[in-house]
Amino acid sequence: MVARTIPVAPFDLVVFGATGDLVRRRLLPALYMRWRAGQMPPTARVVGVARGVPGAAAETPAADAFRDFARRALEEFAPAADEIDADFLARLDFAAMDVRDAAAWSSLGARLGEAGSRVRAFYLSVAPELFGVIGGALAANGLADGGARIVVEKPLGHDRASAGAVNDSLRAGFEESQIYRIDHYLGKETVQNLMVLRFANALLEPLWSARSIDHVQISVAETVGLEGRDYYEGTGALRDMVQNHLLQLLCLTAMEPPARFEADAIRDEKRKVIQALAPIAGAATATETARGQYAGYREDAGNLESRTETFAALRAEVRNARWSGTPFYLRTGKRLARRVSEVAVVFRDVPHSIFGEERHSDLRGNALIMRLQPDEAITLRMTIKEPGPGGLRLTEVPLDMTFAEALGPEVAMPDAYERLLMDVIRGNQTLFMRYDELDAAWSWIDPILAGWEGAPPLYEPGSEGPGEADALLSRDGRRWRRLTE
Ligand code: BG6
Repeated sequence: MVARTIPVAPFDLVVFGATGDLVRRRLLPALYMRWRAGQMPPTARVVGVARGVPGAAAETPAADAFRDFARRALEEFAPAADEIDADFLARLDFAAMDVRDAAAWSSLGARLGEAGSRVRAFYLSVAPELFGVIGGALAANGLADGGARIVVEKPLGHDRASAGAVNDSLRAGFEESQIYRIDHYLGKETVQNLMVLRFANALLEPLWSARSIDHVQISVAETVGLEGRDYYEGTGALRDMVQNHLLQLLCLTAMEPPARFEADAIRDEKRKVIQALAPIAGAATATETARGQYAGYREDAGNLESRTETFAALRAEVRNARWSGTPFYLRTGKRLARRVSEVAVVFRDVPHSIFGEERHSDLRGNALIMRLQPDEAITLRMTIKEPGPGGLRLTEVPLDMTFAEALGPEVAMPDAYERLLMDVIRGNQTLFMRYDELDAAWSWIDPILAGWEGAPPLYEPGSEGPGEADALLSRDGRRWRRLTE
């Protein structure tokens, strides 16, 4: 089965902060992959904006220096890149400018195609303090018409109030329908598959509630530590990962079926899930959450007093008719035993085991595991008879729906940014966050942050995380799936 590629309309994509890490590691490789797949039209243009290209010789024209920067980025980060296609590099341009300098903006306008003749998208890969400056200048210079899109990425604030202020600065120049808030987890294949699996298979829906589901575990574990993430100290795992990525995974797992597969219908349902979360505040933060910091983090961060958590775990309850009685356990952390992201839906045990008590204890029940990474896969854990004569023993086997095997080796899994960037050009907001979702998420997160006191306990790098996280589940008679399982 070969993936179909439908070319998008011609576009001008202007990337502010074009020499930053995100552009080098994710955006340029994603655009290049779409170019190679034939989805990016030959007339599309990508205009980088930054003060200059680091390391470029003064006499080199800025556009050439940027193309060279892009070529090196692609050689390093684009999958299976050999000789970089010069035709792609020719689609890149660069405006060396200080966005705060009002006089510099006319030169940017001159680089874009005629307004209205092609899709215009502005990607703000810059600090949120600059959103207002850039949005205002785009409007003042007539660069953003009603069809223009603006793309932003977290951090969109560090609490509810600051997220509101960031949003106000965006809304000063753009309508909500023009704003694309990226949560790159929504662009991952398995995450979209979660919706298809739930809503296109009659098999699961009757089981998808507290009646059949014992609990859900959502884990995003990384082996990397700080690795140059300068913003991390003072941000921490709760803001960096839970407020967005993990809550979005929870929403897609728990939401009611929307009437249509449409951006607003889906985002309405996701917001309702966040609003149904039982608040965790005050003393409850000690019983319903756990934090940790990997040993050595303080040295990595250059702050020996740091209280920033590099691990967070929570026990969340969705208080509605479908989920009352089924906890959602979330955990995420850096420098853990293994890189693995998954949603594990663990079903209740059979009400009565005919195999007797001893065997019953072997029955670990059914579980649907949706793995986002490292290898995208969906497996259903089943209990079967262990083959062979002599007694009857039960064993667990995974019913494997690994995509690569089922769909054929030629179906490559695209990076999340490939899909998201093309969705921006298409004008499809389904996989982007609406402001009310973000606002609801911060409203739930803020009291947890406020309830945390003192320094988080340390955990060993390469471990499963702090013991406090285990206690969160063992109190309920459950345990985390081991990361190394
Ligand atoms: C980012 C976080 O949003 O997601 C990083 O800011 C984290 O701290 C990254 O490392 C993980 O993304 P992925 O796609 O590698 O799971």
